[in-house]
Amino acid sequence: MERELALEFVRVTEAAALAAARWVGSGDKIAADNAATEAMRAMLDSVRIRGRVVIGEGEMDEAPMLYIGETVGDGSGPEVDIGVDPLEGTNLVAKGLPDALTVLCAAPKGQLLHAPDMYMQKIAVGPTGRGVVHLDAPIEENLQALSVAKGKPISQLTVVMLDRPRHEQLLASVRRRGARAWLIPDGDVAAAIATCLNETGIDMLVGSGGAPEGVLAAAAIRALGGDMQAQLLPEDDAQRQRCLAMGLSDPAQLLTLDDLVGTQDVIFAATGVTNGYLLRGVNFMGDGIATTHSLVTRAESGTVRQILARHELSKKPHLVML
Ligand code: FBP
Repeated sequence: MERELALEFVRVTEAAALAAARWVGSGDKIAADNAATEAMRAMLDSVRIRGRVVIGEGEMDEAPMLYIGETVGDGSGPEVDIGVDPLEGTNLVAKGLPDALTVLCAAPKGQLLHAPDMYMQKIAVGPTGRGVVHLDAPIEENLQALSVAKGKPISQLTVVMLDRPRHEQLLASVRRRGARAWLIPDGDVAAAIATCLNETGIDMLVGSGGAPEGVLAAAAIRALGGDMQAQLLPEDDAQRQRCLAMGLSDPAQLLTLDDLVGTQDVIFAATGVTNGYLLRGVNFMGDGIATTHSLVTRAESGTVRQILARHELSKKPHLVML
């Protein structure tokens, strides 16, 4: 894919973030998600790709736009598979909590795992943890191995996981082993990516979260030099059938970073909606100006950019309710 597409995709996540930002603290996660989805959908049509959504807002009969299989882009340029989460952390926006993002990734056709909407067990670490931790190893062993690789005691490792009853035992093990646990209410895409950025202080993400979110995070982690492993967690026969239909003959198969995203030719873009450890949120500055903070990565070149943008809202009335 041409590298210019990276900036085009940032425009798309910026548009979604500006639209969602109006709904921060509104208590209405559906309205926030709809606003982000509509803005993302509209902006995607200006991008020079023949795109197809492979990770999106749901199946065609469930989602009015950005559904799986929908074609996007202006119909010229390369054939590209697109993964989107127009609003990652809908509850975070509704409640005005940190770390909500708008997210997109793109790769040549066939290179993104078509992860169905189910849970996925995940482990993610930054570059020093690459090849050191294993999804099927006990958490205690992974903590020990990461502590050696990072040259810091386990007591200084920070392990992030979603704050869910299903993680009770995992959390107890992390605490028993003496590591610092960081429980997040939502948003494991930001948390997985944060493991690759020293300044966040997060060393490892563990636990289960959405499978589509896992593939999106993997697209960024490839560029950031970290590692991620995963396993789909189908809960019933229908979900197992969906795994088979995706081409996974063994739904319980351990998925490597390569299985999640099969190419270095992958672009990832995200824009902050609310302030967080990864990105600043949309800031309405007054005088009709808003700022956005985005992260965009290209694994092929290893380029990781953070983009601060200033927007004149009167020129984007379709995005922001003025
Ligand atoms: P939404 O933006 O769709 O609300 O997802 C937020 C999220 O926290 C993801 O980051 C995470 O992967 C998933 O939900 C976890 O699902 P659950 O809330 O069912 O544990």
